[in-house]
Amino acid sequence: MIWIFPLLVLLYLTLTRRWRSKNEPPLDQGLIPWLGHALEFGKDVPKFINRMKLKHGNIFTVRVAGRYVTLLLDPHSYDAVINDSDSLDFSPYAQVLMRRIFNLELPLQQPAKAKAMMTRHFLGMNLSTLNSTMSRHLRSLLKSEMLHNQRNWKEEGLFNLSYGLLFKAGYLTLFGGEQNNNKPDPSKVYEEYRKFDDLLCKLARGTLKAEEKKAAQTVQTRLWELLAPAGLTDDSGSDTWLHAYRQLLQEDGVDEETQRKAMLMQLWASQGNVGPAAFWLLGYLLTNPEALVAVKREFGQLSQMEDSGTPLLDRPMNTPVFDSVLEETLRLTAAPFITREVVQDKILSMADGQEYLLRKGDRVCLFPFISPQMDPEIYREPQKFKYDRFMNKDGSVKKDFYKGGKRLKYYTMPWGAGANGCVGKQFAINAIRKFVYMLLTNYDLELCEPNAQMPEINASRYGFGMLQPEGDLLIRYKPRNTQQ
Ligand code: HEM
Ligand SMILES: *[C@@H]1O[C@H](CO)[C@@H](O)[C@H](O)[C@H]1NC(C)=O
Ligand SMILES: *[C@@H]1O[C@H](CO)[C@@H](O)[C@H](O)[C@H]1NC(C)=O
Ligand SMILES: *[C@@H]1O[C@H](CO)[C@@H](O)[C@H](O)[C@H]1NC(C)=O
Ligand SMILES: *[C@@H]1O[C@H](CO)[C@@H](O)[C@H](O)[C@H]1NC(C)=O
Ligand SMILES: *[C@@H]1O[C@H](CO)[C@@H](O)[C@H](O)[C@H]1NC(C)=O
Repeated sequence: MIWIFPLLVLLYLTLTRRWRSKNEPPLDQGLIPWLGHALEFGKDVPKFINRMKLKHGNIFTVRVAGRYVTLLLDPHSYDAVINDSDSLDFSPYAQVLMRRIFNLELPLQQPAKAKAMMTRHFLGMNLSTLNSTMSRHLRSLLKSEMLHNQRNWKEEGLFNLSYGLLFKAGYLTLFGGEQNNNKPDPSKVYEEYRKFDDLLCKLARGTLKAEEKKAAQTVQTRLWELLAPAGLTDDSGSDTWLHAYRQLLQEDGVDEETQRKAMLMQLWASQGNVGPAAFWLLGYLLTNPEALVAVKREFGQLSQMEDSGTPLLDRPMNTPVFDSVLEETLRLTAAPFITREVVQDKILSMADGQEYLLRKGDRVCLFPFISPQMDPEIYREPQKFKYDRFMNKDGSVKKDFYKGGKRLKYYTMPWGAGANGCVGKQFAINAIRKFVYMLLTNYDLELCEPNAQMPEINASRYGFGMLQPEGDLLIRYKPRNTQQ
């Protein structure tokens, strides 16, 4: 009977493997049944994808934990994926993540409705109100950081400083209304959120160890409690978006507990990326003196205008140098996956004329971090921060970048693209710009260790939006003598 065992193994391997048909992308299943490449994939995404790219080219299908994922790496062909929301649907995978990370199930049509409402809310006059509420909170939070040691340097990790301030200001703007006795302390929410943030990737991949699972449940429960009152009343004027979102959920019959879980999801979507982006930007400025000088010069001219007229912080700001610095920062540190589920068989036409069949039930994934963002054919010395990469000699925005002699439509993609692109982009840009402006014009800011280098990237966060550093970069700051 002993012969039966190897036979079963063979049968199992045969049944769980799949065979590539003629016009499908190259297939690479890895050696481990079911899991496939999951382990290598989770460890260091760019390393794995670059290895596969060398082996197979710009399109290939890999097996990852039972799923087949087709990676497309030619930016000239991205539109074919982004445009076709009929065959390539955003929501099934978004639902998987909602369940895994937030323990959340919403009615099928709910997210689309919520998104349409949110889009209206982050435009026009609504955006202008949000812009200025955000500035006000940022200013007073920065002031209160400094209250007790006015004249002395204060030392802190730049990541914690940037994340903390932008998170708390964003929380007050969108979730908290005004700070008062009935509302949870924003610092408490930040503290709990950071614990949650550290577990987020593992939650998404389903790779938590037993004790981490417990920790995740504890911190989720705390955050649900802290967020329970968010958006219930519209007393503050500033959190009307959240109030409208609550009403939408209630109209759709979503129960109270589920509403709280949805609040945590919105907290993540709106606060999870802005702070880390501001950290990288300030870090690059502090480690690239030439860039810091250029940005300070630009802000200096603006603040002179401010002294002689209306408060600048509530007007749109024209800042070409800063804009280039932000674009360059995001090129280096924004690494989201753009994932879609194939809901019906589709012929994908590549820019080079090749056609491939995508199978229903698979996923398609773009990883713009590798190309265009870190592609040496598009950007010379792509690992290097060059603050003026996105500026022409005359100071206008540089938008022409080429690959294979052809101009690129997508030369960076930190915000995603198409119908499912980021709703909060303008609000986020404004928040980061105001934060950097306030810090650089009203404070002296420097590295504690003048020759310090940027910390390494934490490799476990590739695929989840903004990257985060391993450790932190120590800085010190104090209010400027000239001001106030
Ligand atoms: C630096 C900051 C930010 C970055 C880098 C960023 C990036 C992104 C990316 C890459 C996507 C997904 C696109 C896709 O899968 O196709 C996205 C979606 C989204 N973002 Fe942002 N985001 C930022 C800030 C914000 C802020 C401040 C808000 C809200 C106030 C926000 C709200 C959203 C929402 C609601 C979606 C989902 C869109 C949908 O359901 O189709 N984001 N963002
Ligand atoms: C995708 O849509 C955009 C705008 O709707 C259009 O300009 C572009 O040609 C389309 N591209 C493809 C490959 O379908
Ligand atoms: C602001 O948002 C609300 C709620 O979605 C919307 O009804 C209104 O039209 C928006 N106002 C403006 C001026 O865009
Ligand atoms: C809000 O900020 C964004 C980004 O800086 C800017 O484009 C927009 O003009 C501002 N909106 C208003 C109405 O001030
Ligand atoms: C991080 O920032 C918070 C305030 O935002 C502060 O309370 C905390 O002490 C900081 N942690 C570290 C390690 O600096
Ligand atoms: C890297 O990120 C993971 C997930 O966010 C976190 O658990 C881990 O502590 C981070 N490592 C370092 C060295 O910061």
